[in-house]
Amino acid sequence: MEIFDSHSHLDDARFDDDRDEIVIRAKENGVKYILNPGATLASSVKAVKIAEKYDIVYAAVGIHPHDVKDMDENTIAVLKSLCKRDKVVAYGEIGLDYYYNHSSKELQRKWFKRQIELAKELKLPIIVHDRDAHGEVFDILKEYKVWEDGCVMHCYSGSVELAKEYVKKGIYISLAGPLTFKNAKKTQAVAKEIPLEWLMAETDAPYLTPVPFRGKRNEPSYTKYIVEAIAKAKEIDLEKTAMKLTANTKKFLGLI
Ligand code: NI
Repeated sequence: MEIFDSHSHLDDARFDDDRDEIVIRAKENGVKYILNPGATLASSVKAVKIAEKYDIVYAAVGIHPHDVKDMDENTIAVLKSLCKRDKVVAYGEIGLDYYYNHSSKELQRKWFKRQIELAKELKLPIIVHDRDAHGEVFDILKEYKVWEDGCVMHCYSGSVELAKEYVKKGIYISLAGPLTFKNAKKTQAVAKEIPLEWLMAETDAPYLTPVPFRGKRNEPSYTKYIVEAIAKAKEIDLEKTAMKLTANTKKFLGLI
């Protein structure tokens, strides 16, 4: 099988003791590629280092909405220089999180826009985090025509209707572990209704562990459970689903 884990925080400290084993186990479970997004400046630097160490890992850099309160134009300059490294293939994760509001809404909007501008300048696709800010996120994505360089809604948890609106604009939808939960009817409907060519699979490890490992630490080798859930929702062959999801992710990242 050929699987792409399109979003995995391999840089997380919870992987510091066994990162080598995690990567080996991923390979043993069909994972051919992993994208490690950044969340803070330190985690972006660490993601790039990890991508440079492991052949199957690629990196994205960026500041998560939780942490934008600490950023300034110096941060942008450092991120920009990191983007020049060979294994940095995307920008993110960036967006708005109005559930936790760890940074003020005003600062979240300001730095979301500023980081989209940087990604556009560098012609990098973006990875978007949206929690309880659907309308504003979509407005900003439209304002910047982000589909020109590529955009994915990571760990999508919204409605089928909104997913269709994104896809109409050329924005990808990435599905994570919650798709495997019994009560995830809404996300299962998204997996069923959205054309396969616009979907990606991710673990968002170490968070959001899929069934049958729910409650434990998540890791890239579990991506197959998300791929299986997509194949099941669409009633199509598992191998074929995995291949197409991987092809989509490679296309999005400009790896083909
Ligand atoms: Ni994430």
